[in-house]
Amino acid sequence: MLKENDVKKLIEFAIQQLPKAYVPYSNYRVGAALLAKNGTIYTGCNIENAAYTPCNCAERTAFFKAISEEVKEFEAICVVGGKGGILNDYAAPCGVCRQVMMEFCNPESFEIILATSTEQYEIFKLKDLFPMGFGPGNLA
Ligand code: THU
Repeated sequence: MLKENDVKKLIEFAIQQLPKAYVPYSNYRVGAALLAKNGTIYTGCNIENAAYTPCNCAERTAFFKAISEEVKEFEAICVVGGKGGILNDYAAPCGVCRQVMMEFCNPESFEIILATSTEQYEIFKLKDLFPMGFGPGNLA
């Protein structure tokens, strides 16, 4: 369970990513802040592409930064997003990002914070946003 201060810090880090999003096609800005079990926060933004399919979501940017640094244990992620970077609604992770979370996180305990501000947020477990997910355990 995250402390309230940790939640607010992750929300602030995720919001700080919004101006960095490379979104010439959708103008939908997403920021993510991924808390590793070692205490490090890996941030990410979405990165679009003229060929569309190579677009990378903010969540996966954050995960891949961490994995590339040999950090593979995670506690929680905060995701924020909206058109033009305006946070009217929660930006829930897409199915591909949920699958990537399933690869590296325990669905029973990994927490996903959806926020529109440091005052307005909800916390979900991965297992609730990705029920019966297929993961490394299925191949063990
Ligand atoms: N996007 C994310 O970054 N995360 C999600 O989980 C949902 C979608 C991005 C991808 C694309 O750059 C833009 O939002 C519109 O789909």
